[in-house]
Amino acid sequence: MKRRVAILISGRGSNMAALIQAAAAEDFPAEIVVVISNRSDAGGLQKARACGVPAVAIESQPFGKDRAAFEAVLQSALNEHRIDLICLGGFMRLFTAEFVQRWYGRMLNIHPSLLPSFPGLDPQGQALRAGVKISGATVHFVIPETDAGPILMQGAVAVRDNDTPATLAERILEVEHRLYPDALRLVASGQIRLEGDICKTAGGADSDAILISPAAG
Ligand code: GAR
Repeated sequence: MKRRVAILISGRGSNMAALIQAAAAEDFPAEIVVVISNRSDAGGLQKARACGVPAVAIESQPFGKDRAAFEAVLQSALNEHRIDLICLGGFMRLFTAEFVQRWYGRMLNIHPSLLPSFPGLDPQGQALRAGVKISGATVHFVIPETDAGPILMQGAVAVRDNDTPATLAERILEVEHRLYPDALRLVASGQIRLEGDICKTAGGADSDAILISPAAG
């Protein structure tokens, strides 16, 4: 039985589109049942509908600081669609600890840095200011702390001397679009087990890849 997935977005939804595309494959262990945005102007809503995936907006703004009230409406939409797993794809709204606890081990997020480095806003700018030579993207289980939680999968890119936040973001985004479907596949097929704060992958082939940056002369 395919796991039933909701994708939560706030914006353009390019990760959402990558997940929808991957899940269209017959042998993918999850199906994208609904896309939910907390902003009705999110470009991803149209993209999802164009792919034949139901997409709804639950505006968070009218709820102001009352996160629990917003989450009650969100939870009933998730119940209605009998959702097993949530994927956050650029969902820019914080959750209460209660909501996160309820979905612990069943809610994934993607962030454009090699966590635990550079959580929060402008991670690519943070990476450039720190002068790191390798950055990337991380898929992790969600915990109450922002951009933290057990790490499922990471992908790396070399940082170039002439990178701007925008050029680095573009290369990391390419990695994100490969990473997120692969991470969802592992979770949906039951290949991930949590040992405390650490994720272990059953049957996953270890990668021997080494990335050295910059490459010497
Ligand atoms: C992605 O780069 C994602 O990693 C990031 O927002 C972008 C959403 O783009 N998420 C975070 O920064 C979470 N803290 P998308 O709407 O095109 O998928």
